[in-house]
Amino acid sequence: GASGPAAGEKSGERFSSLGFIMSAIGSAIGLGNLWKFPYITGIYGGAAFVLLFIICLIIVGMPVLLAEMAIGRAGRGNASTSFLNLSGSKRWSFFGFLGVFGSFMITSFYSVIAGWTLHYALSSFTGALYKGTDYAVQFQTFTSGYSPIAWQFLILGLSGWVIARGVSGGIEKFNKVLIPALAVVLLILMARALTLPGAGAGIEFFLKPDFSKLTGESALVALGQAFFSMSVGMGVMITYGSYVKKEQSLGKATVAVTGGNLLYALIAGLIVFPTTFSFGLEPAQGPGLVFVVLPAAFSSMPLGAAFGGLFFILLAIAAFTSILSLLEVPVAFAMDRWKWSRLKATSWTTAVCFIVGVPSALSVGGVLSNFKIGGKTVFDSLDFVTSNILLPIGGLVVTLFIAYASKRAMEEAGLKGTLLRVWVFLLRIVIPPLIVLIFLYSVGIIS
Ligand code: PHE
Repeated sequence: GASGPAAGEKSGERFSSLGFIMSAIGSAIGLGNLWKFPYITGIYGGAAFVLLFIICLIIVGMPVLLAEMAIGRAGRGNASTSFLNLSGSKRWSFFGFLGVFGSFMITSFYSVIAGWTLHYALSSFTGALYKGTDYAVQFQTFTSGYSPIAWQFLILGLSGWVIARGVSGGIEKFNKVLIPALAVVLLILMARALTLPGAGAGIEFFLKPDFSKLTGESALVALGQAFFSMSVGMGVMITYGSYVKKEQSLGKATVAVTGGNLLYALIAGLIVFPTTFSFGLEPAQGPGLVFVVLPAAFSSMPLGAAFGGLFFILLAIAAFTSILSLLEVPVAFAMDRWKWSRLKATSWTTAVCFIVGVPSALSVGGVLSNFKIGGKTVFDSLDFVTSNILLPIGGLVVTLFIAYASKRAMEEAGLKGTLLRVWVFLLRIVIPPLIVLIFLYSVGIIS
């Protein structure tokens, strides 16, 4: 049955309205928007892919996001016990636990890339980045060494420090400052990118759809990206939802988070593509796009070191606010489950996450790069298992739970009339088969 007061009921463990919106946006906007979205758009055909992504956000991302927030607020517990509190069944809470585990594992490798962005920000500001000219070699040299571990440690340590201060005194306080700061930096960089000579070609690539480029594969990638970028499927929004006040409108929060998430992804594209095209570089570069292609562009623009530094700081902040939300999931779980203090739960979670994350850091070009599990490095395996297996399962569980198993959670969303009917229709009929499709596709059962 329901346990005693959940973590969310202690004083100081509540979001203010603005604090919740900012923190949820901070979770959504991350490397997924600023690093991954531009490079997969580059690979999967530019604007046509952007359009697909928007459709996926609306018909899948938004409904599932609202479902998670509602489960969290109605269940008043961590990502696992919220299910238990609402249904009384251990089976549902086991699936919720997969999210706790998944968030923890995502943090362990996500923090590796987040660490890289700190290194790149520093070496751009100091100019060290622009001393050499072959950015692919520099990227390789950096990632094959041991210093990424130190940067990963730093970003995880900072995250732990913020989370240990609590929901209102830590998480929301930092998000309320960092998210607007992010907007300012983004706008400066966008203004710079859009006024570069030849920026037009990049804008066209990003915003003028060529539907001949669309394939079944690009649709499934867009769907997966909609999930990842909205931070759903991992219990993050359930955990954050459990700290939301009763009076706050979850529907409005969903619109704000989706809008913010999309806006920041679009602006990221309006920075990356005009810059790339203006310097005659290739957009379809894959993961190295921002670390290899953009430094070449920054090196040949006036004040490029400063713009480059700002750009990587932007990535670091976006990643940081996402890590806060990811780490909070296991922290909240440990606090509820073992009745640990927030400090104890945070210290253990952060420390173990760092240890688990070290092999990931060493597997991208480093000493562990030849250690393969099923043909994949440690980093790629974790990314694969979390993004392609745990995330769709988590999304499906949330969808089915609210559609069929918990009337309370459905009511908690606060929708009425047509809006409610559309939402329930999407959750019952449209979303489950779509998720099964991405799942089968991404594990290679269909192609
Ligand atoms: N949404 C974040 C991003 O776009 C990543 C994330 C995934 C955060 C899942 C929390 C949960 O980078």
